[in-house]
Amino acid sequence: MKKKTPKLYCLEQLKSSSGDQFRSIRSNIRYTRVGGEIRSLLVTSSLPDEGKSTVAINLAIAMAEAGKTVLLIDGDLRTPTVHKAFDLPNWIGLSSILVDHTRLEDCIISIEDAEGLSVLTSGPISPNPAELLGSEGMKRLFAELSVRFDTIVIDSSSVLMPFSDALILATMTEGVLLVVKSGKVLLKHTSSAKHLLEQQGAHLLGAVLNYRKKSRRSKIRGEDFAEWASSSGMV
Ligand SMILES: Nc1ncnc2c1ncn2[C@@H]1O[C@H](COP(=O)(O)OP(=O)(O)OP(=O)(O)O)[C@@H](O)[C@H]1O
Ligand SMILES: [Mg+2]
Repeated sequence: MKKKTPKLYCLEQLKSSSGDQFRSIRSNIRYTRVGGEIRSLLVTSSLPDEGKSTVAINLAIAMAEAGKTVLLIDGDLRTPTVHKAFDLPNWIGLSSILVDHTRLEDCIISIEDAEGLSVLTSGPISPNPAELLGSEGMKRLFAELSVRFDTIVIDSSSVLMPFSDALILATMTEGVLLVVKSGKVLLKHTSSAKHLLEQQGAHLLGAVLNYRKKSRRSKIRGEDFAEWASSSGMV
């Protein structure tokens, strides 16, 4: 089945309530850390298709709108979508910097319609994403990018997968945002993801309940989520 492309809410609907929601997440994150703003952020979730890319992309746009220089990295090297959302080529990107030593300057793309926002797409699919993300080359690259940009937002794969990509990236960033899809995912999955992230020493900033529905059949309702989030120290 063809995967749908995440929506660019802030660019398309600047005045919409969705855009407001991302701006509100941006504002909350800014104050989450004692002693300064969070400068690098991983967006992940327990399971696939919970809206990680949508949140990462729109949050990066909202942060750039606030006057920051922001780099959005597609750290989902298995099912990347950031290039699709911005309609960018993906024949070079993160994987080619790490594998072929492609020049960083050739891979970072400034987004014309969102001043301050640049994107590093995933690059071609490689056979060993976890190895690449955990490499010394990745650590050096991340350190260099952290100097060049005010904020780095990384879109990643999900936590409860047979591979450790998201956990590896979580140890690199200053904070992790957990996206939770209401109506599909059980809080036990989100709790397991939280536990795994904390075991790695990740700093959890909070959780975003996505696709909030009023349906009684939803497995996660807003009220249950709020209770879980506050009892888990997520908000
Ligand atoms: N709140 C929402 N309301 C409606 N559609 C949404 C919402 N959030 C995400 N979507 C849509 O759902 C689809 C999946 O979202 P997205 O790609 O952001 O999920 P993901 O967690 O990154 O998935 P994957 O695990 O495959 O990387 C996209 O088409 C996106 O536009
Ligand atoms: Mg995604």
